[in-house]
Amino acid sequence: MPERVLTNADLERMVKTNEEWIVERTGIRERRIAADDEGAADMGAKASLRAMERAGVEPGEIDLIVVATATPDRWMPATACDMQALLRADNAVAFDICGACTGWLYALTVAEGHIAAGRAEIALVVAAEKMSAIVDWTDRKTCVLFGDGAGAAVVRAANGPRGILSSYHRSDGKLADLLCRPAGGAAIPMSPDVLQRGDHLVRMAGREVFKSAVRSMSEAADFALQRAGLRGQDVHVLIPHQANVRIIEATAKYASIPMDRVFVNVDRFGNMSSATVPVAIDEAVEQERLKPGMNMLMVAFGAGFTWGAMAVRW
Ligand code: ACO
Repeated sequence: MPERVLTNADLERMVKTNEEWIVERTGIRERRIAADDEGAADMGAKASLRAMERAGVEPGEIDLIVVATATPDRWMPATACDMQALLRADNAVAFDICGACTGWLYALTVAEGHIAAGRAEIALVVAAEKMSAIVDWTDRKTCVLFGDGAGAAVVRAANGPRGILSSYHRSDGKLADLLCRPAGGAAIPMSPDVLQRGDHLVRMAGREVFKSAVRSMSEAADFALQRAGLRGQDVHVLIPHQANVRIIEATAKYASIPMDRVFVNVDRFGNMSSATVPVAIDEAVEQERLKPGMNMLMVAFGAGFTWGAMAVRW
């Protein structure tokens, strides 16, 4: 996590908002903001080094790096390539996945597929986001929601009952405009007009996103559990994408998972897009809420729209 903390009180001095509104509607109290010269590759590389250390894996042993990010450091090349150079993981193939807030689950599934097909033995899956660089800091409807951060995992084949049990992924491009950066890409390149209107920054129809998020995350949880042969009550820990505590509560209720089995840290980090789930996993392990042999369900939703879930025996 970046060191700088941005509190709701800080935001009160930037836009017309207040602590009570933010906490009541989102559950967020503070978020982290990366330094000006700190990008997704830097944050992702730091998380990766810790993950590799815990897994007892050297950078040279990694043969696949999949980076989920909606905030690549540059348009070209992939942030995964910049991260590979930072890590000196010289034997890997590295590429990015653009799945927005669902990116972590998409990236894990890609790594799982490469490993299952025998194309990779040890994969590094990373989610790294500098949301502060694409947020409109004059728009109170969005700027209070997001934060920066990164998480990483070393993924490899294993024998026995532990590992990925099932996954379910979807997307619906018809709804793309409800949460997007309208311009600044190749279709409408950056120009003085784009910059002046702020069309290169995040624009979101909050209510529509909220409704779709609850519906889609519930659907994904259902399907992933069914495919794993599990029911809600079999889940020891639910790790949902951390966008908004009300979305999390509604999803848990639908999946019949009591809130004491749901990991929540959105209050301290806000919405870090794809990075929320791996950061939450890390904290759940540190706090001994997620232990070997437990059934864990991850579920996420994001721009695209994209959504998905994955059941894991930890
Ligand atoms: N402070 C104070 N007032 C605010 C703020 C703010 N930061 N933002 C909006 N308001 C005002 C609005 O202007 C509006 O006032 P008005 O009625 O006078 O026009 C009022 O609060 C209600 O606004 P709504 O947008 O209708 O509020 P809502 O209850 O829908 O909450 C929120 C907004 C929190 C954005 C909610 O819609 C939401 O969480 N949506 C999901 C969005 C999300 O999490 N996106 C992240 C990316 S996708 C993902 O990760 C799942």
